[in-house]
Amino acid sequence: MHHEVSLIATVAVSFVFAAVFGYLADRLRLPPLVGYLVAGILMGPFTPGFIADGALAGQLAEMGVILLMFGVGLHFSASELLAVRGVAVPGAIAQIVLATLLGVGLSALWGWGIGAGLVLGLSLSVASTVVLLKALEERNLVNSANGRVAVGWLIVEDLAMVLALVLLPALAEILGAHATGTAGQAAAGMPLALTIAITLLKVGAFAVMAIFLGPKVVPWLLTLVARTGSTELFTLSVLAIALGIAFGATEIFGVSFALGAFFAGVVMSESNLSHRAAADSLPLQNAFSVLFFISVGMLFDPSILVREPMAVMAALALIIFGKSLIAFCIVLLLRFPVGMGLTVAASLAQIGEFSFILAGLGVSLGLLPREGQDIILAGAILSITINPLVFFAAEIGEKAFHRKWPAFFASYGAKRQGALARELGDIRAISDERNRQHQLKMQQLIDTFPLFAQVDEHAQEELLLLFKPKSASPGERIIRIGDRGDGMYFIASGAVEVQLDDEPVRLEPGAFFGEMALLSGGRRTADVVAIDFCDFLILDRRDFNVFMSRHPALRTAVSNMARERAEMNTLRRNPDQTSGAA
Ligand code: CMP
Repeated sequence: MHHEVSLIATVAVSFVFAAVFGYLADRLRLPPLVGYLVAGILMGPFTPGFIADGALAGQLAEMGVILLMFGVGLHFSASELLAVRGVAVPGAIAQIVLATLLGVGLSALWGWGIGAGLVLGLSLSVASTVVLLKALEERNLVNSANGRVAVGWLIVEDLAMVLALVLLPALAEILGAHATGTAGQAAAGMPLALTIAITLLKVGAFAVMAIFLGPKVVPWLLTLVARTGSTELFTLSVLAIALGIAFGATEIFGVSFALGAFFAGVVMSESNLSHRAAADSLPLQNAFSVLFFISVGMLFDPSILVREPMAVMAALALIIFGKSLIAFCIVLLLRFPVGMGLTVAASLAQIGEFSFILAGLGVSLGLLPREGQDIILAGAILSITINPLVFFAAEIGEKAFHRKWPAFFASYGAKRQGALARELGDIRAISDERNRQHQLKMQQLIDTFPLFAQVDEHAQEELLLLFKPKSASPGERIIRIGDRGDGMYFIASGAVEVQLDDEPVRLEPGAFFGEMALLSGGRRTADVVAIDFCDFLILDRRDFNVFMSRHPALRTAVSNMARERAEMNTLRRNPDQTSGAA
């Protein structure tokens, strides 16, 4: 029997190599991602030994980017994105324009045409999401104001690249493409303005759906699944939503996978279940983002370092010094402080996934010579490897700045930074408060009903989702004897009377009733009447059955109580038995 094992082989060898070289890198006090890159180079076609399937590795890497961006989205709310727009939007746009101009200038020096320059410049101007996030994570900066600005800046860059990817084929002919590929021909027939309009319309439509429809549909869907109580189904749904939105966004709206996934995360972050979604998707995120570095390494042809050392150095200088300097100056010009300028500059001093996509497109359109692609790849690998050093240099720079110009360092941009930090702080406080309220609700649940202390936190959360609230006024009949059992009632406040033949039994907050008919499948055994203003939490019959079958200990506790009550009722009805038994 023929076995197609390339996917399994690629994944298996990638993980093994990445684990080994990641560990070695760590022992050498290098960031593990350097180890992953080396593993990728060794698995690639340019080095002897095992050669993995590059196309497959590329797709797996894309999964890593999707999951990672989804994870960022989960910790990012739409309001935070809006809060940083003042610096992220002008900053990213100005930086792309200036860095692209530098790229055009550089390629003119090499005697390349304007088209090649444009592709090179654009490729060098966008930073890699994966690298930026790993770097921020390592320094605990993701949740800081500077980190928020850097991520927002990157989102704007991603959006700009969506436009660039669509426009390049349309512009290919004007830019002097030699051999127009299929992509070029498809779009070249359309007037440029129309292409731009359609792209903007699609991105706009996606944004509208993500902002208005998403927050309603996605949390609702999650709640629906969480109510089933199946953890497996929950994890699956989280992944289905993340990957589904990412894929749909690309297919329908022409938005990149990463951007689609990011918005899926942002939308999900509005739900109380988002922390569970984050915890569920984290292991996959980690595993697949490793594959991203492997696939970058695999594409790399080390011989370019010997063939075109000067060109590689020039590209690297542009990425590390040119781009950072531009970003730093823009942040300062926008009247934000030196510290933010340095963090943003260091975060952006690398290139990654978008650059490869752009370079690949440039080559297929006949705009970029093949060496251009190799130079971009070399620039990516080197800038990713050196990035920790750049951060280190930025930290030293910050200290030096602080020492030399303490007054300027402390005061410049402080006002705007303060306002931004306050705004972000307020947004955070709102979401913290929401979490706190949720925790409080859970705590109250257990305080009122100690019975639920015996199930785990997930199950308690599930109960909160399953309960339907109901209130009643004094005198209202809640349960009528002889009716079919439709639900079980938990008394959150108020009091009821179970009207038994001789004297009524009073039940107070923390107690439950209506369990007997549900357990036996028979009829209600007594009338239950509210004797105060009451609030109940109701577990309806279907949910009762599912929940109790999943939590046998709870079922036993409830059954014991029902049995005791039944025995008590029998004794009351036949008091003779009491004396007999006694
Ligand atoms: P069910 O038979 O479904 O509807 C009436 C409910 O009254 C019953 O379930 C019990 O929850 C409750 N009940 C019946 N007998 C007693 C009792 N002796 N003490 C407390 N509650 C009772």
